[in-house]
Amino acid sequence: MNESTRFARSIRFLADRFPMEKLNFQSMVAKKDVPVHRMSWAYYLGGLVLFFFGIQLMTGIALLFYYQPSVSDAHASVEYLTRNVAGGALIRNIHAWSSSGMIFTLLIHLLTTFAMKAFARPRELTWVSGVLLLMLTFAFGFTGYLLPWHQIAVNATKVGLQSIEQLGEFLPGALSEIPTKIRVAIQGEAAVGQATLSRFFAAHVVLLPLATFAVLGLHLFQVQIHGMSPGVDKPTTRSERFFPFFVLKDFRVWGVVMFVLATIALCIPFEAFFDYPLFEPYDALGSTPDGIKPEWYFLFLYYPLELLPFWLVNLIVMLAVGVLLMAPVIFRGTSRRVLSTIAILVAAYLVVSTVFGQEIYEMIKGGH
Ligand code: HEM
Repeated sequence: MNESTRFARSIRFLADRFPMEKLNFQSMVAKKDVPVHRMSWAYYLGGLVLFFFGIQLMTGIALLFYYQPSVSDAHASVEYLTRNVAGGALIRNIHAWSSSGMIFTLLIHLLTTFAMKAFARPRELTWVSGVLLLMLTFAFGFTGYLLPWHQIAVNATKVGLQSIEQLGEFLPGALSEIPTKIRVAIQGEAAVGQATLSRFFAAHVVLLPLATFAVLGLHLFQVQIHGMSPGVDKPTTRSERFFPFFVLKDFRVWGVVMFVLATIALCIPFEAFFDYPLFEPYDALGSTPDGIKPEWYFLFLYYPLELLPFWLVNLIVMLAVGVLLMAPVIFRGTSRRVLSTIAILVAAYLVVSTVFGQEIYEMIKGGH
């Protein structure tokens, strides 16, 4: 292929993804239809993730009024907010529960859009921007966990950063230096300390939100300009207007979820699920508590890391990220039936490793 055909192809690719003739209110909102079929419920999931993200922004800003990003005051400021500020515990609880809700819904959104082949042409950029949003959301979780500066948070962050460095052992020559450099760049100093907290804080409240706004802007723009994908093999003629009918139904779902979220946040402190008290500030000389674990949404990775060779898990993760990013190319000719089977198998792995990971771990370790 010569230069000019390659250039012409790139222009055509972009023109198909950003069709100028559809760049108006009529096409993007007023005339947009949502197909009605047995998988229609899945069209609510992206909106629900958006709802959780909005809750995170609002409660996060409220938490910023009291939070102090220094190793000497971070823990005390969170404790003060939880114990002495009216509504403080509730806001903190909503932020924690909603982050879990966001990740849970996001994973189902990913699996259903995959199963419905919504990544197919012309929606490749919707999909790829989605994969980036997934990574940004996990980065929110990782950086946010450190901020209360308690014993578990700091130790779990150390373990996370160590695994980045360990990668170097499996890379040849000069490449083996790179993971250590990444770790130092994230950590900011020799051990996890003030520089690390400052960086995680800056990332959690400024960098990641800005990056998310940009990528989410592209994601939603693509969704509106291309309309909803048919989602099923035999597209139905039945559909409903996006505005106002589907949007109003979206709001109804958000209302119900808000009610459930507020009830859970009022009744169950997020820490109720931890085996150890979270109210202990980090003490560099203190012992690392037994059985520290990351948040539930990292368990699907944590148990394989404990049980399998480190290089193998990393290889699988890198392959998985590659396959996710390239899904529109790799699965171009795959039927929805096969895609659904893959999505169900992945979902089964995620559920089993998260819910029964500890039992499986003990069974395998006990057998040795
Ligand atoms: C912060 C994270 C995200 C937000 C707020 C978000 C939001 C949305 C919204 C509101 C829609 C339209 C309604 C729907 O189809 O559910 C949508 C569609 C879509 N999303 Fe996401 N999304 C996110 C992450 C992801 C991820 C991780 C993927 C997959 C890798 C993804 C892939 C898609 C695709 C392919 C569509 C088009 C669906 C269709 O046309 O039928 N999104 N997203």
